[in-house]
Amino acid sequence: MFTIKSKLYLDRSQIISKIDPRIWGSFTEQLGRSVYEGIYQPSHPSADKDGFRTDVIDAVRKLNVPLIRYPGGNFVSGYDWQDGIGPKNQRPRRLELAWRSIETNQFGLHEFMKWSQKVGAKPDMAVNLGTRGIDEARNLIEYCNFPKGTYWSDLRRQNGAEKPFNIKVWSIGNEMDGDWQIGHKTAQEYGRLAHETAKVMRLVDTSIELVASGSSLRTMSTFGSWEETLLDNVYDDVDYLSLHQYYDNYDNDLKEFLGKSVDFDGFINDIIAVCDAVKARRHSDKQINLAMDEWNVWYHSKAADDKQAPWQEAPHLLEDHYNFEDALLVGSLAITLLKHADRVKIGCLAQLINVIAPIMTNTSGEPSIWYQSIFYPFMQVSNYGQGIALAQRANVPAYKAKSYDVPYTDSVATYNSKTNEIVIFVENKAHEKVNFETTLENFNVNKLVEATQFCGYDLKKTNEDQSMSIDSLKKVHLDDDKLTAELQPLSWNMIRINADD
Ligand code: AHR
Repeated sequence: MFTIKSKLYLDRSQIISKIDPRIWGSFTEQLGRSVYEGIYQPSHPSADKDGFRTDVIDAVRKLNVPLIRYPGGNFVSGYDWQDGIGPKNQRPRRLELAWRSIETNQFGLHEFMKWSQKVGAKPDMAVNLGTRGIDEARNLIEYCNFPKGTYWSDLRRQNGAEKPFNIKVWSIGNEMDGDWQIGHKTAQEYGRLAHETAKVMRLVDTSIELVASGSSLRTMSTFGSWEETLLDNVYDDVDYLSLHQYYDNYDNDLKEFLGKSVDFDGFINDIIAVCDAVKARRHSDKQINLAMDEWNVWYHSKAADDKQAPWQEAPHLLEDHYNFEDALLVGSLAITLLKHADRVKIGCLAQLINVIAPIMTNTSGEPSIWYQSIFYPFMQVSNYGQGIALAQRANVPAYKAKSYDVPYTDSVATYNSKTNEIVIFVENKAHEKVNFETTLENFNVNKLVEATQFCGYDLKKTNEDQSMSIDSLKKVHLDDDKLTAELQPLSWNMIRINADD
C-alpha cells in the first residue's frame, strides 16, 4: 500500500517569532444565547452571586483564553453602552437590530468586566462606529480608564467600580466594510472617523492599543483597497488591523474544505503585503500587526436562523453543531495562525459560548454544558502553543483540491523555555496513515512528555453525546534528535518533547 511520508526539519536557531499569547483569544457578542443562558443565567443551579454560570466559567478556563472581544460583532454597531450600566431594574429593553432580537441589558459593561476577570481574560472592548462615534468613544474610555474626579469616571465609581478598568485593547468599529453593518461606511468615510476616534481615545489614555476594522472576508469586493485607504488614514493611529474569516463546507467536498487553511494563509499574506506597501509608501518605521479577531467555521445553523421568529430574548441563533471535519479545519487554521506569529498578535476564535462556539449550554437539565468537536484542538493550541514559533523546512507531498494544492500534513512547532518543551502540532489530512518524521537540531532533547491524537470519528459526527476525546498516540519514538510517528488517517496530533534551553 502507498504510504505517505512527511518530513519536518526544526532547528532551535530558526524561529518565526515569539508568540503573543493573545493569539488564542476569543469573542463573545450580545447575540443569541452567548451572554444570556451562556455567561449569565441567574436562575441556573450553577449560577454564582453575580448570576454567572460557574459551569461555563470552568469550561472557559480550560480554554485558557487570555483576551475576549466584546460586545460585538454586528451588535456593537447599534449599541449604546450606557444602556448596560447602572441599576439593572432601570436598564431599558431595546430592539436589537443587528440580530433582530430583544436586548434586556441585564448584562453590560460592569458584568462583562467582572466575568472576564473570573475566567482569567482581559477585555478587547469594541466601540460603536456605526450609529455613534467620537463622542461615544471618548466618554466610554473616560468611564473605563480614568481614575476619578470627572463626570464619567465618577459615574463608574457610583456604579460600583472604584478602580478604573484600565482596558488596554480597543476595537474601533466592526466590519464597517459590509453593507449588512448598521452604519456601513466607505473606506474613506470609516478611515476618517477611525482616525478622529483614535485621536480622542489616545488623548484620554495614551497607553491603549487600537485595532482598526479590516475586511470582513477575503472575498469582499473591496478587499485590499479597503485596507489601503483605511491605513492611509490611520497608519499612525492604530496598532493592529483586524481580519475576519469564516469557512463552510456547503459543497460537502472534504478535500477542498480541509484545504481552506491554504486560503487562510493566503489571506494573511495578502494583508501583510498591503500593510507593508503602505508602510513603504509612507517611509514609516512602524509595523502594523494583525488581529484575526473572528475566525472559525460557520454555516451549519444558517438555514435554521433564517426561520427564527424575530424579537425574541436570547434566541437560538448561530448554534452550529460542529462535526469532526470542522475540528480538523479549526486545528489547521490554528496552525496557520502560529505560522504567522510574527505578524498575527491577536486572534479571536469566534465565538466562545453557544454562538458558533466550542462551548454549548443547556438552559436546564443535564448535561448543563457540552464541548463541541472544535473545543479539543483549540484547547491544545491555547494551552501548549506558547513561547516561540519555530521556523520549519518541510518535505510533504500535496493533494489537488478544486482550488488549492494542499499538503497532506499541516504542522507547526513551538518551543516554550518556561516549560522546556518543544510542542509539535501536526494534522494528517489524508485518508491514509502518514509516516511522520522530524529532526530536531540544536536542541538538548531529553524525552517524550506526551503524544496525543484526536481521530477515528465519522467526519459528520457531532459531539452532543460527549463521546469525543483526545487519546494517546501510541506509535511514536524519539531517538536522540529524531522523532518518528505514525499518524492515523484524518487526525489531529500533538507531541510534547522535553528539551533544555
Ligand atoms: O460572529 C458573528 C458575526 O460575524 C459578527 O457579529 C460579525 O462581526 C461577523 O459578520
